Amino acid sequence: MKVLIIGSGGREHAIAYCVAKSKKVDKIYCTPGNAGIAEFAECAPIGAMEFDKIKAFALEKSVDLAIVGMDDPLVGGLVDELESAGIRTFGPRKNAAILEGSKAFSKDLMKKYHIPTAAYENFDNAEEALAYLETAKFPIVLKADGLALGKGVLICNTPEEAKEGVRTIMLDKKFGSAGNTMVIEEFMTGREVSVLSFVDGNTIKTMSSAQDHKRAKDGDQGLNTGGMGTFSPSPFYTKEIDEFCEKYIYQATVDAMKAEGRTFKGVIFFGLMLTQDGPKVLEYNVRFGDPEAQVVLPRMKNDIIDVIEACIDGTLDQIDLQFEDNAAVCVVLASDGYPLAYEKGLSITGLEEFEKHEGYYCFHAGTRFEGGQTVTNGGRVLGVTAKGKDLKEARANAYAATQWVQFDNKYMRHDIGRAIDEA
Ligand code: AMP
Ligand code: GLY
Repeated sequence: MKVLIIGSGGREHAIAYCVAKSKKVDKIYCTPGNAGIAEFAECAPIGAMEFDKIKAFALEKSVDLAIVGMDDPLVGGLVDELESAGIRTFGPRKNAAILEGSKAFSKDLMKKYHIPTAAYENFDNAEEALAYLETAKFPIVLKADGLALGKGVLICNTPEEAKEGVRTIMLDKKFGSAGNTMVIEEFMTGREVSVLSFVDGNTIKTMSSAQDHKRAKDGDQGLNTGGMGTFSPSPFYTKEIDEFCEKYIYQATVDAMKAEGRTFKGVIFFGLMLTQDGPKVLEYNVRFGDPEAQVVLPRMKNDIIDVIEACIDGTLDQIDLQFEDNAAVCVVLASDGYPLAYEKGLSITGLEEFEKHEGYYCFHAGTRFEGGQTVTNGGRVLGVTAKGKDLKEARANAYAATQWVQFDNKYMRHDIGRAIDEA
């Protein structure tokens, strides 16, 4: 089987690693890919939003299966485009990817189907949003409706801050058209957990839980990023919590999408907050998390192609999804300055060390191959991942492995998995 993966980050590298392990696969392509993915796949420099070029490439290479890893092309309808050309594709169609593409849609869906989430109001004009803030409780959370690289969420402590936030999102359009509509919601407190799941339209099977670290600096200080590190499983995601979510959140979401005529096939990522009143949905994503995939996929025992084909064919109920009874930690190595300004093109050494150690992975997030060597090509550069028999061992292993790789301006958080000690 020939497989095409669309995307260029650590998540797509983790997907490519699993696809390469499948006995069913003879050839992998990736658009655009990166220097790490190129070890498994033939990469072609086609951007993830260049739908016509991706379609032409898939047809030219006669790919049997396409896997879309990233949010933008999913929300933009790449799955529909590829399917219209007869290409079997893994990921939600555009009408289902709206679950991530519009926060206002997802909040209305949760309200309509009684799925636990923060109380909220949607607004499509700034005056009404500003008027609403006059009587609101603080802190309060503002969210741009559309995709904003994970940066469209503002937590505001005072009315002044919130009003400024409304202006930033709706009038100054800091996040572009993503801010045409916005959600204003209740501030919740609790631990955050990410749960990824495979969905075939009717059946949902969840993967091992994970936790991300979104802020740039130790102690959850600094700006929001795409994610600076993850661990899996979350020790706070207990059996009781899982049972609650199975009952009130996971299947309910899949059934709600079906009832709306938006049958969902692909991966749903549940961003949950474990509040005092029980688990509530913070957000949905319609793809593997990055860097959640880096700690979840290496622990999956199944052949990923079997699971993906079952999602497409509607036979996921026949899959016994299994994860290793161990743990994994991923520490992101970034270029200092991320998520603002940072240098690119710095040479990376030490990558070969990972080939010598079982249970250690170096997933490339932003790299390219240039002049015979691998160089940095993004803010998040590498996701150094290690397994261990438990979370503490995995964390120690991952941090030890961060020392194997060197590049100028290498930056990482030193407290990934700090919560493990509080469990
Ligand atoms: P989201 O992209 O919706 O997951 O939001 C990004 C981050 O903002 C989340 O991971 C939370 O840390 C925080 N956040 C979002 N919504 C809320 C909320 N209602 N209450 C408290 N924190 C929130
Ligand atoms: N790590 C969070 C995300 O993938 O959106």
